[in-house]
Amino acid sequence: MEESGMTLFVVLNKIREEQDPTLRFDFVCRASICGSCGILVNGRPTLACRTLTKDLPDLTTLLPLPVFKLLGDLSIDTGIWFREMSIHTESWVHNDEKFDLTAQEERMDNEIALMIYEAERCIECGCCIGGCMMTNLKPNFIGAAGINRVARFMMDPRDKRSNQKYFEVIGNKEGVFGCIGLLACDDNCPVAVPLRGQITYVRRKMASVGWKMK
Ligand code: SF4
Ligand code: SF4
Ligand code: FES
Repeated sequence: MEESGMTLFVVLNKIREEQDPTLRFDFVCRASICGSCGILVNGRPTLACRTLTKDLPDLTTLLPLPVFKLLGDLSIDTGIWFREMSIHTESWVHNDEKFDLTAQEERMDNEIALMIYEAERCIECGCCIGGCMMTNLKPNFIGAAGINRVARFMMDPRDKRSNQKYFEVIGNKEGVFGCIGLLACDDNCPVAVPLRGQITYVRRKMASVGWKMK
């Protein structure tokens, strides 16, 4: 029976407890923090732990997010995808300076720190990947989460990679030029990472490198 404030997390647990102990689905935090519970609800990617049953129609279909490795029922492995993307985009600050333990912490412009913070709010739920036509068609496409990750390091003044260096990684059809810009990712991100802005930012930078190479 439906209770007030009931979420899909509660429903799935009830089904597992009362009807099918083999049902597989992923949850950790139940609070839109861990990103584990991304699923397709009536075809739309979202977090099950923040989906209220009162907002759903009488007949609701649940499916696992596509693109990622299926483990069983609604359970997927997003870790493999995000790890490969992190390695591909070299998701760490590239800087040749020797680390000085005694140095004072460097100050960062507030505006830049806020932009980096916005990019880092990604909880790696995979909703932007599962709902993107291009990642479904081309498994090697970097997707919005990947473009957001690149934007994060491009914005960071401590990262000394040149735009040319980034171009070698994402200035192609598997990278930012594979995005068709219909922005389902922006609509589907449950924590409102500014994906529209990140895609525009990275595309503009990479287009200017490509233009100069002509
Ligand atoms: S805008 Fe680009 S990254 Fe976002 S859903 Fe569309 S193709 Fe995918
Ligand atoms: S950008 Fe948003 S939708 Fe995509 S993985 Fe991160 S939190 Fe999820
Ligand atoms: S269980 Fe952590 S985001 Fe849903």
